[in-house]
Amino acid sequence: MDSEVAIAVKSDADIAKMREAGKLAGEILDDIGGAVRPGASTGDLERRCRRLLKETGARSATLNYAPEGHPPFPAALCASVNHQVCHGVPSRERVLRGGDIVNVDLTIIKDGYHGDTSRMFYAGNPSAPARRLCEVARECLWRGIRAAKPGAPLGDIGREIETFARARGCSVVHEYCGHGVGRKFHEPPQVVHFAKRGRSPILRPGMIFTIEPMINAGRRKTRVLADGWTVVTRDKSLSAQWEHTILVTETGSEALTLAPNETPPEFTPD
Ligand code: MF3
Ligand code: CO
Ligand code: CO
Repeated sequence: MDSEVAIAVKSDADIAKMREAGKLAGEILDDIGGAVRPGASTGDLERRCRRLLKETGARSATLNYAPEGHPPFPAALCASVNHQVCHGVPSRERVLRGGDIVNVDLTIIKDGYHGDTSRMFYAGNPSAPARRLCEVARECLWRGIRAAKPGAPLGDIGREIETFARARGCSVVHEYCGHGVGRKFHEPPQVVHFAKRGRSPILRPGMIFTIEPMINAGRRKTRVLADGWTVVTRDKSLSAQWEHTILVTETGSEALTLAPNETPPEFTPD
């Protein structure tokens, strides 16, 4: 963890705006998730997303997003199916089949502020191991959220996540991580989802960043497809990811991108 990189402490005004952006992102993602079913394409999800953005006066942060070394991302959401880890490009050709698991990752901009969140959705009835992987990944996210509190080192988040994932026989992707977020999509710090040696910045109330562990049923290594974006597991094992934008509070942390009826999962025994 690079303790030289300062993590911004947001103003109350910024926090209020981030709450609004986060809430809206959670609501829109809920609506998109309702369209995940066998026979729907990931392009259908994209179309629905664009309509909802228009209706709510929000913009996509990912459409034409072009960090160095990447072609512009062509869509308002990422849809990553089965062994796709993240950054799946929606397409009308990718028709979901019964048993598919799909991560939908949505980043919106509302009044200049970002809300970044993703969840796993099921097309029909996935296999028991596929559902278990999704649940393990969700608990990884929430264990990370639980570790994010004032006075704690940022690095506790990744250590908690990796310990839990490994205890469940899963691996943690290293190549992609959570990030500070605010008026900018990706700002410091990097929030890795594994244990990392070295000094770690101490969390303070008012810091806002994402936690977004990518958890694989098999080995952790990934590769990027020829489209320049879609990330897949090298061993073609299933992968699952959940993401919230979180705020460090005086007493712990608050998920700003909660879904309308979302409550944290029961934590399973260590
Ligand atoms: N939403 C992703 C994240 O959680 C980033 C997607 S970038 C894209 O950081 F270009 F692939 F859309
Ligand atoms: Co993110
Ligand atoms: Co995201």
